[in-house]
Amino acid sequence: MTTIVQSFRSQMPVTARWAYLNHASVAPIPKPSAAAIRRFADTAESGGTVCWPEWNVAYEGIRGGAATLIGADVEELARVRSTSEGLSVIANGFPWQAGDNVISFEDEFPSNAYPWMNLASRGVELRLLPMPELLGYTESAEDALDAMRLVHKATAVEEAILRRLDAAIDSKTRIVTLSWVGFRTGFRQNLDRVAELVHRRGVLLCVDGIQAMGVQPIHVRETPVDFLVADGHKWMLGPEGSGVLFLRREHFERIRPTTVGWASVEHCRDFDHFDLTWQPDARRFEHGSPNMLGANGWYPSLQLLAELGVENIHRAILEVTDYAVERLRSIGAVIRTLRGETCRSGIVLFSMPGKDSATLAAVCERAGVVLICRGSGLRISPHAYNNREDIDRMIDAIQNA
Ligand SMILES: Cc1ncc(COP(=O)(O)O)c(C=O)c1O
Repeated sequence: MTTIVQSFRSQMPVTARWAYLNHASVAPIPKPSAAAIRRFADTAESGGTVCWPEWNVAYEGIRGGAATLIGADVEELARVRSTSEGLSVIANGFPWQAGDNVISFEDEFPSNAYPWMNLASRGVELRLLPMPELLGYTESAEDALDAMRLVHKATAVEEAILRRLDAAIDSKTRIVTLSWVGFRTGFRQNLDRVAELVHRRGVLLCVDGIQAMGVQPIHVRETPVDFLVADGHKWMLGPEGSGVLFLRREHFERIRPTTVGWASVEHCRDFDHFDLTWQPDARRFEHGSPNMLGANGWYPSLQLLAELGVENIHRAILEVTDYAVERLRSIGAVIRTLRGETCRSGIVLFSMPGKDSATLAAVCERAGVVLICRGSGLRISPHAYNNREDIDRMIDAIQNA
């Protein structure tokens, strides 16, 4: 087993009670993050604004912490309240012309559909391409026995995605927007290939990264996505309501700030004069008072992820999900996530023939196992601190149901 699991586990008090396999929903927070929130409560109660400089260390740290995880420059990060907000910053601020279109896929989470659908009144069309291979996927017995078959299938899906995008892009397409990892399918997009195609066709690439950022290696200088957005409350182990928006430096001037306030401008601490000169970097997309509590709770999590190393975390997550898939297959589960070497992630969807998924989820919870119903089955999403015993506990609970 990967060496980080034990040390990481010691930082996750949730393990005392639960086999927590639900990081694709809302994650438990690490010990130092919980301690920081308690400290914030104590200092806010006893000192108020006197303690603001101390709180601000975490708030300022978020941009650098997030930049480190993806290989970006700190100037290219803005703090946002959610993935939905970050995607809306791009959707609302892009210089659209009536008749333009945006392309995405039908398996997106609503956060990556509604901001673009909302542009209809400006004459911008969202085109959703089908993703039948993934939404209807059921692993066959032959697939389960042969990893190469899964690789071939994954490659075929990857090619289909690129072909579909290539066919759908026309002279009016401005942005392609998609999830790095699908929340329901667990499919990890090949962002290198998508970015190459999209840019070759003169289009920009926007990525909903909430199901991958922090646990999936990326270097944005090598994988040239244009925009990447993620809230911290899933794989990055923060409290809900603190996230980041990455946008490449070259897009600062292209995207117009649409929700603005005192924090959006260069002289943001001068409350006595009005001067609508934007912050020189991505902070122009921030606006009012920060989510200080959220930042204090999230920053230690980002530090922990950086200490453990994204590559190590990624490896450990694949190891534990591979083990889960193997055990699930052995008890007759139907795997509904395409587990090809090149496209697998920390999300696995499965169902148990003849058993109701909602009932199984409730049985698991009573046995101390947290997972969730999604799409056509049950979804597990273990993190790098989950061990084989966590998976065995889930298997026992399902078998005893
Ligand atoms: C792919 C994806 N995008 C966005 C979200 C939610 O984004 P937020 O609540 O940060 O706006 C989720 C939540 O499950 C998700 O799975």
